[in-house]
Amino acid sequence: MTATLVTGIAELVTHDEAYDGPLGIVRDAAIVATDGQVSWVGPASDAPDADRRVDVEGRCVVPGFVDSHSHLVFAGDRSAEFAARMTGEPYDGGGIAVSVEATRAASDDELRALLRTRVAEMRAQGTTTVEIKSGYGLDVAHEERALRIAREFTDETTFLGAHVVPPEARGDRSAYVDLVVGDMLEACKPYARWVDVFCEPHSPHAFTEDEARRVLTAGRDGGLELRVHGNQLGHGPGVALAVELGAASVDHCTYLSDDDVEALASSETVATLLPGVEFSTRSPYPSGRRLIDAGATVALATDCNPGTCYSSSIVLMIALAVREMGMTPEEALTAVTLGSARSLRRDDIGHLRVGARADLTVLDAPSYLHIPYRPGVPLARALDL
Ligand code: NIG
Ligand code: FE
Repeated sequence: MTATLVTGIAELVTHDEAYDGPLGIVRDAAIVATDGQVSWVGPASDAPDADRRVDVEGRCVVPGFVDSHSHLVFAGDRSAEFAARMTGEPYDGGGIAVSVEATRAASDDELRALLRTRVAEMRAQGTTTVEIKSGYGLDVAHEERALRIAREFTDETTFLGAHVVPPEARGDRSAYVDLVVGDMLEACKPYARWVDVFCEPHSPHAFTEDEARRVLTAGRDGGLELRVHGNQLGHGPGVALAVELGAASVDHCTYLSDDDVEALASSETVATLLPGVEFSTRSPYPSGRRLIDAGATVALATDCNPGTCYSSSIVLMIALAVREMGMTPEEALTAVTLGSARSLRRDDIGHLRVGARADLTVLDAPSYLHIPYRPGVPLARALDL
């Protein structure tokens, strides 16, 4: 057993109700990590002895960020598509085919190296857990490969064979859905925890409510848990379907009716908001305030992907949520820790109570308030213990 004592913490966010305010803050704090788990938390003046000591010299420590939605397994470049959008081109999911072609053409080692760089980029910005989806393979072999490689980096892997109908299958959508719920699911499920679908009537490439229902129920029958891309490009059936099927999370939630908000508030399904997508597609931001006031659980994630948001920065998402989505700094920080952990049905991450995984993120600042207060400044990094 090796115990590491972290001292010099000006402000420690624990999410433990025993401590101050909605975030469970301890000031002038210390925390002990023993073999990867939090074993003691409290005021530095009461700290026990330990084998090792790390002094963070007056900084703020928060639970490691949980990025519960990303598409990191891809090759290729779509920066020109982004530039076109900034001058008025709308987003409809058509560019996904460009990433599919480049991803299929990459070798295993190339994909692995790209993924390693992206996961490291996230960790260097404070993210200690990341969910990673497939969805740029879109045939049996390439979807299986994407998940097999993603599994080398995270247990939170998601089968997204139903991202879009790939170009070669456009003549026969239902044959493609048959493939997804048949051979593709069979090949992918050993490497996946979750199944997801892009349910979006406003994209000709994505899936209808009936198609999405087929994919999700087949995934569930195959032992996977459910997540949904819903209500991104306009009002639609994604949120209601996710709630009806008991999905852990429905992500985007950009366009919500009152019924959608009510359904989310009276369910266990987390509303995951992805404001980097609104930023990078010039779309209106969803209101986090409306969801929180109604009683829904809200998570924030990056959606890091080559099309709608090529940002791995959780601190940017916090700043956008506070500036544009009516969320307080406390709510935004909670959404990238407790909220996103809940969307992954995890209770060992997203907080720093005794027994949690010792995932600590340190801020080059005395308080978490500096995250939205100092936008664009790389304040956060995961602490290597
Ligand atoms: O979550 N909306 C669907 N899928 C991704 C974007 C994928 C892409 O454009 O490459 C998203 O926004
Ligand atoms: Fe996504």
